[in-house]
Amino acid sequence: MTEVFTPREQIQAMAGYHSPQVDVPVRLNTNESPFPPPAGWVEALTEVVTSIEWNRYPDRSAQKLREVIAQRHGVDPSMVFVANGSNEVLQTILLTYAGHGRAVATFEPTYQMYAQIARVTGAEVVIGERRADMTLDAHEIERVMQKHAPAVTFLCNPNNPTGLVEPRENLDVLLESATGIVVVDEAYAEFADWSAIDMVSDTRPLAVTRTFSKTLSMAALRVGYVVAPAWMVEQLNIAVLPYHLDSFKQAATVAALSFTAEMEERVQLIKSERARIESKLLSHNIQVWPSGANFVLFRPQARPAKEVWESLLRDGVLVRDCSSWARLEGCLRVTVGTPDENSQFLAAIEKALA
Ligand SMILES: Cc1ncc(COP(=O)(O)O)c(C=O)c1O
Repeated sequence: MTEVFTPREQIQAMAGYHSPQVDVPVRLNTNESPFPPPAGWVEALTEVVTSIEWNRYPDRSAQKLREVIAQRHGVDPSMVFVANGSNEVLQTILLTYAGHGRAVATFEPTYQMYAQIARVTGAEVVIGERRADMTLDAHEIERVMQKHAPAVTFLCNPNNPTGLVEPRENLDVLLESATGIVVVDEAYAEFADWSAIDMVSDTRPLAVTRTFSKTLSMAALRVGYVVAPAWMVEQLNIAVLPYHLDSFKQAATVAALSFTAEMEERVQLIKSERARIESKLLSHNIQVWPSGANFVLFRPQARPAKEVWESLLRDGVLVRDCSSWARLEGCLRVTVGTPDENSQFLAAIEKALA
């Protein structure tokens, strides 16, 4: 007989995070890079595999990898913590600073994993609201900080799922009024025009997270990191599991960092394709949020979003249906793909609205 056990109270109340996949020719729903990583890197992996001492545990401190990431950002390696995707970085931050009896703040709508992981740790999630146009009022930041004194506050810049770039002043206000750790999630920073990494210092409780899943075309490898004060990195290392980052991943990521120029060249193409998608959608009288990321949030208006989503799917194009999410009624989100994929999406949307 199979026994059914009751999970913890926090888990019982949750539905989990789901990003449904459908096998279609044009997959524009999860904000990955549409391009494979450079062929030179894939070739280098054979050497990586043969160089590993497979009978030994990995370098627990991931020293070499932290050095190359630190060099990329002009910071000290002691200010870098790496994990299996930036989701694991977020989880480690929350395991370290959230938990029962503490509050975690988000400004909705934003990336759902902040609230999800915070609740898993047993923390209370407190929500700041954005304006109707999805921008964030600095007074709202101050209100949430004063009322709840959160242990951790998240600012996603550019914000997922809106694509909006946060004004720098909002981060200044947040840093002035925050009582706990401030996390700026820069999963899409390469597509935007400013980064908070240069603000990270020993005297500020600021952590900036990045990922290899987007610009660097390595979503399958699962690597993300945070640039934070050295004291914070030390504390994260207490909460994380020993040997959480395997030897292959460490060496493969070091190798990947010699190909960044090639990968970053693609950012320009994504940005110009993003502009093409935005202007085409606007020309169909669709509401569009100006994006600083590799995706575009839009509201078809002329037809219910669910019907538009289904029509796109019939034409082999999968986008993210956000229309049932709180504060995003009628909205869909499309990831910028290859020029050909984007043309297929635009043709399909034209048909859906005809
Ligand atoms: C804002 C944001 N942060 C973090 C992540 C997670 O990225 P990773 O693949 O590094 O876990 C995503 C993925 O979509 C994201 O949109």
